[in-house]
Amino acid sequence: MKEKISFLKNKIDLNSPNKNIVPVTTTIESNEKLYIGGCSIEDLVRKYDSPLYILDEITLRNSCRAYKKALEKHYPGVSLPIYASKANSSIFMSNLIASEGFGLDAVSEGELLTALKGGVPSEKIVFHGNNKSDEEIEFALENKIKIIVDNDHDLKRLEKISNSFNYDIEIMIRFTPGIECHTHEYIKTGSFDSKFGFGIEALNKLFVIISKTKHIKLTGLHAHIGSQIFELDPHNDLGKIMVDVILKAKKFGHNIKELNVGGGLGIKYTQEDDPPSIDAWIKTVSLSIVQACKQTKLDLPKLMCEPGRSIVSTAGVTIYKIGSFKEIPGIRTYLSVDGGMSDNPRPITYQSNYSACLVSNPFNNNSKNTFTVAGKHCESGDVLFKEIELGNCKTGDLICVFGTGAYNNSMSSNYNRIPRPASILVCNGEAEIIQRRESPLDLLKYDVLPNRFMK
Ligand SMILES: Cc1ncc(COP(=O)(O)O)c(C=O)c1O
Repeated sequence: MKEKISFLKNKIDLNSPNKNIVPVTTTIESNEKLYIGGCSIEDLVRKYDSPLYILDEITLRNSCRAYKKALEKHYPGVSLPIYASKANSSIFMSNLIASEGFGLDAVSEGELLTALKGGVPSEKIVFHGNNKSDEEIEFALENKIKIIVDNDHDLKRLEKISNSFNYDIEIMIRFTPGIECHTHEYIKTGSFDSKFGFGIEALNKLFVIISKTKHIKLTGLHAHIGSQIFELDPHNDLGKIMVDVILKAKKFGHNIKELNVGGGLGIKYTQEDDPPSIDAWIKTVSLSIVQACKQTKLDLPKLMCEPGRSIVSTAGVTIYKIGSFKEIPGIRTYLSVDGGMSDNPRPITYQSNYSACLVSNPFNNNSKNTFTVAGKHCESGDVLFKEIELGNCKTGDLICVFGTGAYNNSMSSNYNRIPRPASILVCNGEAEIIQRRESPLDLLKYDVLPNRFMK
């Protein structure tokens, strides 16, 4: 029974936070209560209310530093780690990753603006997207942000702009390398059914088209093969494929100087998960590119990678307050919390699993019960845990869900007009707000009653 929460007794890997379930500063103090970043979770909820997103600064910085260190160790050429801001976008996150020397990838004007306001230098930002608006493209160009061309529509618009203003635009192109990845398996296919990027089979034609433009300079390649990946082989294959594409492009006169291998390294959400370390992932990517360049006598390109989840997920937890209980004899007991699918849409969207514990009894030090943890939304599928063992608990007790730093806040909604939680940063016993809690009134801000409905 106790195994279910034994993750709290795992040795913490300080160098590769994605291999832990909990933030690296997690402690259970002598009062048997949960602390993160030196802060009592109970005290934080007393001050900031619940549900509450918490980010641990030391875990974030350790993750960034692990990427930097591994690139310095394994890649002899120039490199730049780029944070995939879709994982968790805020002025704070932009500022923190910039302070660690990271670049940032964005997919909308909102994410671009957040990066710039947070202090990420524009030359370290790249702009993705399979359906960029004209305004977004203009915004990126005005701010000298590198555009990753995803399709013909992007290319045509950039060509038109570069011709009308008579200036060169350096681009990267995104292509689908024919590697399809899931957490525990991957397949290689001739082409890949994806809405993103050019098919690998279409590249020769594309290289000809770009050669014929006056001002478009193709200088970089991008590929991203999936997320929450535990195997290293797919990224080993990706490195080789990308170097192969550099050679192909060369035949058409394009000098590719930058390779962006995307993100995708998995994290440990539950005891069953065993992702590679950040060092092992970077080593694989680096070696495959270095070897392929050596064999083909190519200069090493600048290596970029785009981790999102493995930077921010383990640093984040969400705290909920327990409300109602409903026992259905012989079937299950529902325990409902004060958040759910609006602050964490991953369980209902992807059937994602997490680990959790009671804040005031993390080791379940009394009888254990199996609960179904439900959210408060008007949706039967709004369930955070189908089955979890927790010690005795009652209305008002707190639950901490681990690994919620990525794709929770950034994918949150106001479904059922539920305001988004506050986000708090913790470090060395201090807590500071990084995103204010929304209020029900905030949610009315954009509602308008047409004149003729007003008396
Ligand atoms: C283009 C691109 N780069 C990077 C990432 C980040 O992936 P992850 O969070 O798995 O590291 C994603 C996420 O899907 C992506 O689409």
